[in-house]
Amino acid sequence: MATVRIVYGSETGNTQSIAEEIARLLEEKGHTVKCESAADADPKDLAEGYDMVLLGTSVWGTDTIDLQSDFETFAEDFSVMGLAGVKCAAFASGDTSFQYFCGGVDYIEEHLQEVQAVLAAEGLKLEGDASSNKAEIAEWTERLAKSL
Ligand SMILES: Cc1cc2nc3c(=O)[nH]c(=O)nc-3n(C[C@H](O)[C@H](O)[C@H](O)COP(=O)(O)O)c2cc1C
Repeated sequence: MATVRIVYGSETGNTQSIAEEIARLLEEKGHTVKCESAADADPKDLAEGYDMVLLGTSVWGTDTIDLQSDFETFAEDFSVMGLAGVKCAAFASGDTSFQYFCGGVDYIEEHLQEVQAVLAAEGLKLEGDASSNKAEIAEWTERLAKSL
């Protein structure tokens, strides 16, 4: 069984609920998961001891991508996270009425590529919280679990 680390930035709880649902589903499959807020996570050597790292954040700009504030601080420098060669993926809750729907996913993926992480799946972009996206989350998590 594998170990997975999930770090999320969430202002009103939507991205947090998605992170917790992903964690629950992976645990159900027998994997060991550490799921924590970006406010509590140390970015240094983030991947050490983990087979997969999942990062998620909401964004709050109108015509720019403004990361959720805890995640912005956490993700200041992807190069310290030790993600080269590590399986990673991004997720977020957003609102399709904004120019950059779930722009945090694009931001994270761009930086994952820069530090040569391995993208385990295309990012998960959802509107609302986990309860209104159960099927999409299950499908995405299933895809990730296959690469573990
Ligand atoms: C001022 C403002 C700006 C926002 N900007 C974006 C945006 O650029 N892209 C997006 O997808 N959602 C945007 N949102 C929507 C939130 O990101 C969305 O409600 C999200 O579900 C919040 O997730 P959280 O509870 O995990 O923080 C914005 C919301 C507000 C109020």
